[in-house]
Amino acid sequence: MTGASSGIGAATARALAAAGAEVVLCGRDRARLEAVAAECPRGRALLVDVRDAQAVRRALEPVGADLVVNNAGLALGAEQLPAGDPAEWAVVVDTNLKGVLHVLSATLPGMKAAGRGDHVLVGSVAGRQVYPGGNVYCATKHAVRALYEAQRLDLAGSGVRVATVDPGMVATGFSGVRFRGDAARAAAVYAGMTPLSPADVAEAILWIVTRPPHVNVGELVLWPTDQASTTLVHRR
Ligand SMILES: NC(=O)c1ccc[n+]([C@@H]2O[C@H](COP(=O)([O-])OP(=O)(O)OC[C@H]3O[C@@H](n4cnc5c(N)ncnc54)[C@H](OP(=O)(O)O)[C@@H]3O)[C@@H](O)[C@H]2O)c1
Repeated sequence: MTGASSGIGAATARALAAAGAEVVLCGRDRARLEAVAAECPRGRALLVDVRDAQAVRRALEPVGADLVVNNAGLALGAEQLPAGDPAEWAVVVDTNLKGVLHVLSATLPGMKAAGRGDHVLVGSVAGRQVYPGGNVYCATKHAVRALYEAQRLDLAGSGVRVATVDPGMVATGFSGVRFRGDAARAAAVYAGMTPLSPADVAEAILWIVTRPPHVNVGELVLWPTDQASTTLVHRR
């Protein structure tokens, strides 16, 4: 479980652990990871930055996971091009696209050798639609969707299932990170509407991975009822 220290990742780790899974919680912040791991029976924290291909390989290959939730990701800023900081674009691309690739390549060989396993990508509705100022983040999530489609082809006949869960707005630390700690701006994202909770997404992931082996859910898009598209949100 990558990005397990917060938000969707933490909720999914808790849900999987409650369902009986032995969960390895990956992230960069030891204290936050260990706090979530303590809530997961048989949970353990594993420090790894998904941007570092070698570190991901060293950390994840020995785990031999039969279920991977490839979730770590972020947005930084919402400036419209050409505004924006190339150093921040690199962090977003290196995490959301290259990080997802690093995790796929470190974990798929073991699953293919076993002839079974589940790889769940946490994409976004931003991988299906765009919105003003969403440029780099939306591009990376469109890329995650392309990786999902490519993996479906490459894994055909392997016994390994790949799925993408694409949520709309979820109340997590995401907007706080995106707006660089500006709490008021982050809170305004959800003003007057009811977003998904991290537990809503976790429940969907748990459902996907507990289908019988011949069923591959594939793509699951989860919207808050108050959100009709990436640009149309009903606020009271
Ligand atoms: N919130 C939403 O509205 C929403 C909607 C659709 C999709 N998503 C997607 O859901 C996923 C989870 O986001 P969230 O909403 O749960 O946000 P969050 O609460 O900010 O959690 C993000 C997680 O990613 C981890 N992370 C970030 N960079 C990392 C790196 N380089 N290496 C390892 N871990 C890293 C963070 O851990 P540390 O910083 O502790 O390392 C944290 O655990 C992301 O892929 C996001 O794009 C979110």
